[in-house]
Amino acid sequence: MGRVHIMDHPLVRHKIDYIRRKEVGTKEFREMIEEIAMLMCYEATRELKLADVEIETPLCKMTGKELAGRKLAVVPILRAGLGMVEGILKMIPAAKIGHIGLYRDPDTLMPVEYYCKLPSDCDKREVFVVDPMLATGGSSSEALAMLKQKGVKNMTFLCILAAPEGLEKLSKDHPDVDIYAGALDEKLNEHGYIVPGLGDAGDRIFGTK
Ligand code: URA
Repeated sequence: MGRVHIMDHPLVRHKIDYIRRKEVGTKEFREMIEEIAMLMCYEATRELKLADVEIETPLCKMTGKELAGRKLAVVPILRAGLGMVEGILKMIPAAKIGHIGLYRDPDTLMPVEYYCKLPSDCDKREVFVVDPMLATGGSSSEALAMLKQKGVKNMTFLCILAAPEGLEKLSKDHPDVDIYAGALDEKLNEHGYIVPGLGDAGDRIFGTK
């Protein structure tokens, strides 16, 4: 099984529970999703590799550290994943960005990729796949499978809210992928919404309701 990390930090908890409120408008919702993604990125990058580097301060020479491992890329799952990208770029401004979009064919119920554009060296990068809501886990799991087919080898999945069903599916289908969730909610309802949740993340980020 992949490792599952549920964020345990007062700032993240406060911000998530703030935006759950139905009266929070688009501007504030969008800003806070960005901030939560930034804080989660801080946690998800904890194990990045460092290497020694000789530097000179105004006072003396010293052996410092600099990032040395695989370079990073961020891949939002369209459309709601876009809301998390800016926050991650605040922490990792040089990350490359890919995009993936899929829908389920209403006749065959099979996932169909309608858009996918990735950095050409995505096979060598650590790829942070982002989607705010891990509900059934169906589309996230399919997105990870499609990215693997395209050569991506090292992935971490970040979501703001997870349902137990989605966490179980994703960690079973992709035991090689670490999962970071801002909070773990109670359940899914009969429409596939996370409860208590925050509603439709895409609509709330883009103001399309
Ligand atoms: N997608 C959302 O935007 N919200 C949910 O609760 C579940 C899936």
